[in-house]
Amino acid sequence: MAEVVIVENEAAAGALVADTIVSLIRSKPDVVLGLATGSTPLASYRALARRIADDSIDVRGVRGFALDEYVGLPAGHPESYRAVITREVVEPLGLTPELVRVPNGDPATIEHAGADYEVALTAAGGVDLQILGIGRTGHIGFNEPGSSLASHTRVKTLTEATRADNARFFDSPDDVPMHCITQGIGTILRARHLVLLAFGEVKAHAVAAAVEGAVSANQPGSAIQLHPHTTVIVDEAAASQLEHLDYYRHAWANKPAWQGI
Ligand code: GLP
Repeated sequence: MAEVVIVENEAAAGALVADTIVSLIRSKPDVVLGLATGSTPLASYRALARRIADDSIDVRGVRGFALDEYVGLPAGHPESYRAVITREVVEPLGLTPELVRVPNGDPATIEHAGADYEVALTAAGGVDLQILGIGRTGHIGFNEPGSSLASHTRVKTLTEATRADNARFFDSPDDVPMHCITQGIGTILRARHLVLLAFGEVKAHAVAAAVEGAVSANQPGSAIQLHPHTTVIVDEAAASQLEHLDYYRHAWANKPAWQGI
């Protein structure tokens, strides 16, 4: 089962994620990080940027692969995930831009963009640690309900619920693209360690379905149950619908000190 860690707030989650990634970088300077967009991982990226600066950690060799991208936004659009990853991750952390990839949402090459991304992921040796958020519909990456649990990087049509959720980043809801390119669930499951973050009551149902519900394409987040090393970091509100909350707290309180997340 996934390890569930209940933290006080996003800052506490950020500190835990930053610690974990810093020790990974120390043991593997060309570590491959799987990067999620959305508001959920922002506190972790900020905490990590501070740790890197404070401890003068050399991140020049760190590699990254984003989970997903919109299809058809003009190059340089501020809400393209390429722009978001540059703004929120590459620049503040001081990563080498050429080592951080985002799926290519250019319609001109979209037919083979998914396969190209899979080739690049494999050539990089796979993702060491994948940061994940979860959508209200239970999606991870942009794998909406119904996505194959074995899927690879490919083009998907966004649900209207996800388009509505993401409308806050655009001038008008109609500006939210209809299509995206996303790592598949099978792709995500190949990462060596999954770290799923969720905060707030609005995520409580998706978290409970992912951690304790039936494994089903209907709840893409539930695919984490198929992975041998998953850490779910949530605040009290996002944890509020979990049935085995007491056990998760007990296990965390008694965790062997050598174990890490
Ligand atoms: C988007 C992203 C996901 C993200 C999810 C949740 O649709 N493609 O990777 O996990 O929304 O977003 P947020 O973290 O803003 O709640």
